[in-house]
Amino acid sequence: MRRLLVILALAAAVLPAQAGASAIANIAARKTTSLNGKWRTIVDPYENGYFDFRMQVSKEGYFLDVKPKDKTDRVEYDFDTAPLLDVPGDWNSQRESLFFYEGTVWYRQKFDFAPRPGTRAFLYFGAANYEAIVFLNGEKLGTHTGGFTPFSFEITGKVKASGNSLVVKVDNKRHLEGVPTLNTDWWNYGGLTRDVLLVEVPETFVEDYLVQLKKGSADTIAGWVKLNGARPRQQVAIRIPEAGISTTVTTDDKGYAEFTVPAKLTLWSPANPKLYDVIVASENDTVRDRIGFRTIEVRGTEILLNGKSLFLRGVSIHEEAPYRGGRAYSLDDARTLLGWAKEMGCNFVRLAHYPHNENMVREAERMGLMVWSESPIYWMIQWQDPATYANAANQVAESIARDRNRAAIVLWSVANETPITDARNDFLRRLARHVRTLDPTRLVTAALMHHEEAGAGQNRVAVIDDPFGADVDVLGCNEYIGWYDGLPEKLDRSQWKSIYDKPLIMSEFGADALFGMHGDPLTRWSEEYQEGIYQRQVAMLNKIPFLRGTTPWVLMDFRSPRRPLPNIQDFFNRKGLVSLRGDKKKAFYVLQEFYRSKAD
Ligand code: GCU
Repeated sequence: MRRLLVILALAAAVLPAQAGASAIANIAARKTTSLNGKWRTIVDPYENGYFDFRMQVSKEGYFLDVKPKDKTDRVEYDFDTAPLLDVPGDWNSQRESLFFYEGTVWYRQKFDFAPRPGTRAFLYFGAANYEAIVFLNGEKLGTHTGGFTPFSFEITGKVKASGNSLVVKVDNKRHLEGVPTLNTDWWNYGGLTRDVLLVEVPETFVEDYLVQLKKGSADTIAGWVKLNGARPRQQVAIRIPEAGISTTVTTDDKGYAEFTVPAKLTLWSPANPKLYDVIVASENDTVRDRIGFRTIEVRGTEILLNGKSLFLRGVSIHEEAPYRGGRAYSLDDARTLLGWAKEMGCNFVRLAHYPHNENMVREAERMGLMVWSESPIYWMIQWQDPATYANAANQVAESIARDRNRAAIVLWSVANETPITDARNDFLRRLARHVRTLDPTRLVTAALMHHEEAGAGQNRVAVIDDPFGADVDVLGCNEYIGWYDGLPEKLDRSQWKSIYDKPLIMSEFGADALFGMHGDPLTRWSEEYQEGIYQRQVAMLNKIPFLRGTTPWVLMDFRSPRRPLPNIQDFFNRKGLVSLRGDKKKAFYVLQEFYRSKAD
């Protein structure tokens, strides 16, 4: 039964919204050629390069990348003289004229590539926001929807030794039925925002694998391997030399095999983020990975890592590039952001509101930071629309497929601040089941809704009774008492209760402050207002008996189209504890002290 579920899940991972796309695990361990760099681009707000005047796919589309044959030939675009944009990178922060741009941009890269005989070739995209249509030498390879997960297309037999034309139509237009939908409090950075790579693999290769501890066990590894190719039945060895582990399986006619093996391991934890060299070797393909092993579970209102209850000292982070702004993607970006979180005393980070780049997740793992990974089911999603569900389910599946071997990821979040309706509950329950099918080993959470009741005297009681709370392992809840909800003093008379015997992570709280703006604690936008909010939040949070973690909003100021206030916001959400340039606001030290007290 488990075997069938995994194969179905693997198949489901690419089916719904992604024509032709496939998922190859652990790209960094493969033989790759980078196509990053300067790409020629055409900004095409009317999608004139794709549709003709009858809105049919054009016979003269830009994807053909042609040049005039002679002086009489009419060709109304020319990639060779078109402006350049960097890949990886969003277009909004690279060119002033594209700052607010939402629509289609065509990207073109020329390359030579002669794969070795007996190998296969794939084009890999770390992410493209939001919808990508990919063409090679004028032929459509496929499409991908969703701005934050990887996808690949096979180009074996389609790629030429030289002069290949790779054209990608990227469109970041927002859609009501999209995931995310029309309204978000983050900048809709468009473009080829992560690596673009050529990948060369053997004819039959190790497409995917899971090597993690069996659910609920600290001394048994349970996993599987999946081969892709004409010779699916093979011997595959899984080895962890440092732990003296070596087991061999024989894959079936679908290239799939499961294994369990006893294991005596040093478990991964924030205090000791131990990673092992893991080798998955088929008859002619070997994939190496660095993998940690840990157990994560809940017991009543406790969250247990490796069997021990702990407090998740976290912070929420957007994938905004420190110092320069724009979509973050690099290892340096990750080190800077996570370095600030470590400095704050964190052992946990909430990567909001979408799957962040792999550099971020792997660096968190190396640094000993547990991760809340989230898919952008955010605010007002079209719950009744089956295509919206398929899109959401696919983004979740692609995210899990990329990160299933990351010990640092302990929580999958399937929703943020979504309104309570029957359609929403059905949608999210189905999505939570989908997550548990794809990965039964991790915890499921969401930023749930809560409501307020009168308490004794002037006191207010926030009640967590969101019906979807019954379907998650860990309750998440966002609150802005003292900022959107009353003034700071309200925190002094606020209590919390929950109808669930489950742990709570207060997944958002905070206030906006412009670094360097000072005033009394009631002056909005001043560091003192934010500092006061944090002092009072900490006092309130310490009184919540079932609180097991916090991820205040937010580590660093980030761009948002909903924040136009001149000279203060200037299209930045200023709830960061550090500014874009890394300047620490007064509240940073309040949280640092809180986490010092929690660590002890
Ligand atoms: C919301 C939301 C965030 C947003 C924050 C804010 O709760 O989840 O995406 O940025 O509040 O208003 O600052």
